[in-house]
Amino acid sequence: MTDNELMRRQLESLSEGVDWDVTILANAAALLWEALDDINWAGFYIMRGGRLELGPFQGKTACTVIETGRGVCGTAAAEDRTQLVPDVHAFPGHIACDSASRSELVVPLHRKGALYGVLDIDSPSKGRFTESDRKDIEGFACTLEEVLDRLEADR
Ligand code: SME
Repeated sequence: MTDNELMRRQLESLSEGVDWDVTILANAAALLWEALDDINWAGFYIMRGGRLELGPFQGKTACTVIETGRGVCGTAAAEDRTQLVPDVHAFPGHIACDSASRSELVVPLHRKGALYGVLDIDSPSKGRFTESDRKDIEGFACTLEEVLDRLEADR
């Protein structure tokens, strides 16, 4: 079993019997934080009222609201496409929540087929994320979507 498969299974088992999305996202952020080296932030922004709002995460305090289309997260949401950014300084409109961040990987998340939010991972190293990381994190996001889709409507 690869580390990524193990992480996906851990997410599945940690989510058994859980009925609140926040609980699942909190453990998902902790799993990413434990598993990945050379990162300084891992977490979620959730779509609320047409913009992204800060969800569960690990790392330093972060920007609370991101307009769709702004920064790396807002672009991932607006285009509904993964953003792999080797150098955030070269990304127009990048939002520097932590000036130490140098590269970033953002994957859109869906729930029942609709855009639900984004998974965001930051690194203090330029070029930290590879195409293989992108595939692994997209796979993790896919498991997360399956887990979220199994929940009844929240709250
Ligand atoms: N850098 C992100 C903002 C979120 S933080 O990295 C946690 C962006 O440009 O969207």
